[in-house]
Amino acid sequence: MPSLRLAPASTSDFRNLAERRLPRQLFDYVDGGAYGENTLRANVDDFQKLRLRQRVMRDVSKLDTSVDLFGTQLAMPLALAPVGLGGMMARRAEVQAKRAADARAVPFCLSTVALCPVDEVAAVSPTPFWFQLYMLRDRGAVKEILDRAKAAGVKTLVFTVDVAILGTRYRDIRNGLSGEVSGWGKLRSGPLSYLLHPDWTYDVGVKGKPHTFGNLEKYVPDAKTPADFAAWITSQIDASVTWKDIEWLRSVWEGDLVIKGVLTPEDAQEAVNAGADGVIVSNHGGRQLDGVSSSIEALPRIAEAVGDRTAVLMDGGVRSGLDVVKAVASGARAVLIGRPWIYALAARGEPGLVAILKNFEAEMKVAMSLTGARHVGEITREILDVSSRD
Ligand code: FNR
Repeated sequence: MPSLRLAPASTSDFRNLAERRLPRQLFDYVDGGAYGENTLRANVDDFQKLRLRQRVMRDVSKLDTSVDLFGTQLAMPLALAPVGLGGMMARRAEVQAKRAADARAVPFCLSTVALCPVDEVAAVSPTPFWFQLYMLRDRGAVKEILDRAKAAGVKTLVFTVDVAILGTRYRDIRNGLSGEVSGWGKLRSGPLSYLLHPDWTYDVGVKGKPHTFGNLEKYVPDAKTPADFAAWITSQIDASVTWKDIEWLRSVWEGDLVIKGVLTPEDAQEAVNAGADGVIVSNHGGRQLDGVSSSIEALPRIAEAVGDRTAVLMDGGVRSGLDVVKAVASGARAVLIGRPWIYALAARGEPGLVAILKNFEAEMKVAMSLTGARHVGEITREILDVSSRD
């Protein structure tokens, strides 16, 4: 393997570095997927199967990767996806992520179950960020959390709808992190605690520092350990939610509403009927139902069905700027990346995340220049070799 000490070049280089730095349990929590991880693999592999059509002699001396999304100009059609407990992978990781996202002019989306609360992230800069919501049984708590997000300047709410029940990840079970009560508790104070890097201990509340459960801190009854937190969150997930609940959500949230976790045209249609400003074609990074189609496979039909009425975004398996271009050509207004930003942050901190975002932008430019797309509007189906699609 080439030395990675000087300059990790690709997402897989950052992944390798993250694997060396993180305790196995944490790396597997980020890296793994549900059951046999077939959908997780398909998310990545299906991008590799798509072929671009090379076009030349088109004056590509000026390339513009920027887009307008939800009223904001972005440097490229990409956002950092919400990652629960992402704060365990680097010190105050969500704050570092917000700073890196600001530096590269892309949005950061804070998870409901982030370790840094919404106010701490907002204090980084006045640049708006997105907030992701899991519907909790306690609607009073949901309303308060949304009020806090709004007060912190959040204008885009990402409502995740593919976690009616938590998916089963074999790696987490084998590592004792299955989400059952003992798992995370062991990580904090039991036999696994020695694995935690000193930089991370503040985040998980060891060494006498207070625990922080981010946005949910004040709602977790008697939260003493991350184990209590995990048990509470599991009990709080509201599986009774239907499209009707969007009405309630609309009554307490005036900003943009984006539905995350749609994988069929029928559900995308429901989201549009419910008044969604956007949908995210997503299988939760292959972490929920193994065996569903990859996101890039599901995308074109959904974009065709609702793309003229709502912003169709996608995530799952995006590992380079070339993938971003393929996703946009397949009908996405923008993509989100999950694992890549965590790998980069775990590997090299904030500079690592800035570097990987620079890579994505540079890779986009190469793909655009050699397919003859001078700006994002010119990234259309024409640049895809359709025979690679089926
Ligand atoms: C996630 N994802 C996720 N999604 C969400 O809406 N809320 C959350 O709290 C989390 N938590 C979470 C933790 C970890 C460790 C991962 C890897 C993912 C899903 C995430 O937002 C996104 O949909 C996928 O990560 C996209 O796939 P890639 O880019 O990781 O392949």
